[in-house]
Amino acid sequence: MIYDTLAQYYDALVKDEEASRMWVDWIESKCSPCDVLELACGSGEITEMLVQDGFDVSALDLSDEMIEQAKQKDVDNKIQFYCQDMKDLSNFSKFSAIFCLCDSFNYLLEKEEVSKFFKEVSDHLKDQGYFFFDTHSLDRLEEFEDEFNETGSFEDCDYQWSIMSEDDLIYQDFAFYFQEGHIVQEHHIQRVYDPVWLEKELSKHFNILSVKTDFDLEGIQEGEKYFYICQKK
Ligand SMILES: C[S@@+](CC[C@H](N)C(=O)[O-])C[C@H]1O[C@@H](n2cnc3c(N)ncnc32)[C@H](O)[C@@H]1O
Repeated sequence: MIYDTLAQYYDALVKDEEASRMWVDWIESKCSPCDVLELACGSGEITEMLVQDGFDVSALDLSDEMIEQAKQKDVDNKIQFYCQDMKDLSNFSKFSAIFCLCDSFNYLLEKEEVSKFFKEVSDHLKDQGYFFFDTHSLDRLEEFEDEFNETGSFEDCDYQWSIMSEDDLIYQDFAFYFQEGHIVQEHHIQRVYDPVWLEKELSKHFNILSVKTDFDLEGIQEGEKYFYICQKK
């Protein structure tokens, strides 16, 4: 399973409080504190900030280990956590807003899954509820045609992290070299979707209120991520 081992090192690798604040500010630009569902919450950095700001948060992730990391931050037990696939929300009722943040959407690998996912999200929003999500940009595919490599150390292991793209897929490979000698590897695949196709699919269920690149550039431009704010039709 992806994130089985990565989960315990995830914050050390990517945690950035300033960036988490930008995600929360982006959400709060449209949405006041209310009942929300966060899909693919990961280690719960944004989740916890939303709770501090007064949101009533339910949060799910496919990875038990990521949920465990997130639970450790929820010292007041304010968040309802669920370990499950974001493609099936049938156990939930309806929320005022649903979020899927920080590259999580790109783990949906088939167009058919994406189409069903948008409907599933829409079905679990209250009237005029908001859906916030981001995707890798098309430029990321070009960027990772040249392989990215990072190496480093944690207390108990050294790691290697590589990212490369081929066609519309981004491959991330992690290797953890533990001091006692064993090696654990994780292979992640993400698909990058054309924003024209995404907008066509979204518009079956949502009005698209805002599309930005990298938080503050209007529309689809050169950059790393596209940010969508949608409202249930
Ligand atoms: C890049 S991390 C982002 C985590 C978090 N949203 C954040 O802002 O840090 C991607 C997360 O997506 C989760 N994930 C991937 N596919 C999923 C799925 N089908 N359902 C639920 N979670 C999924 C992974 O377990 C991982 O925690």
